Amino acid sequence: MTKIPDIIIAIDGYSATGKSTLAKSIARQFGFTYLDSGAMYRAITLLCLERDLIKEGVIDEAALRHILATEGLDINFREESRTYVADRCIEREIRSMEVSSFVSPVAALAFVRAFVDDKLHDAGRRGRVVMDGRDIGTAVFPDAQLKIFVTASPQVRAQRRFDELKAKGQEIPMEEVLANLKERDYIDSHRETNPLRQAVDAFVLDNSSLTMEEELVWVQGLIQGRFQIYQ
Ligand code: CDP
Repeated sequence: MTKIPDIIIAIDGYSATGKSTLAKSIARQFGFTYLDSGAMYRAITLLCLERDLIKEGVIDEAALRHILATEGLDINFREESRTYVADRCIEREIRSMEVSSFVSPVAALAFVRAFVDDKLHDAGRRGRVVMDGRDIGTAVFPDAQLKIFVTASPQVRAQRRFDELKAKGQEIPMEEVLANLKERDYIDSHRETNPLRQAVDAFVLDNSSLTMEEELVWVQGLIQGRFQIYQ
């Protein structure tokens, strides 16, 4: 395993750009902990759906705020970053289209972001963490020592997400997948609190026509150059 300093690596970018696959590979390669901030927003969205807090598209903000403040939500990751709430694995449920269609409005709520940020700050305190999301390099860890902003064409991203969902047995029409990605990109980049933005000091990775291997070579080169690692 290549040794690099105890830093925080922030990977941000648009929906379904493969940030989590990239982050997991980096974590494996360098012995870092991987943290999926999107899974936290998805877990809170699942909570909203299961407690019936979204009626005709409107979120009962007061009720959600009360639940997070009084009960909290014990989101934790096990077995290569599968998402749990307490001892219940919710990995499958949070990747559903239903959660995807409500997650951006839920994630736009300032008190929801504050709740997630607290958990991310806790996890990042020790360093050696790679986190992916929308605002990690701009707002959660603006001092992260390495920031990568991932992008790819909407069609490529929709195809990847369509294939992923299909592999999990969810046959969602391609147009629906594409529309969801575009809608989330819009809400995520136009919300008031910590919108999706490329940090000025982020390295941009457009992986529209890169294989996973090519992408990893690019990242390894970046990390080795940035931290002067010569083997
Ligand atoms: O996997 P995918 O790129 O589709 O999304 P995700 O990373 O699981 O994130 C789901 C949603 O959570 C995003 O569309 C954002 O609305 C929200 N999110 C956010 O607002 N800030 C983050 N740091 C991470 C995710």
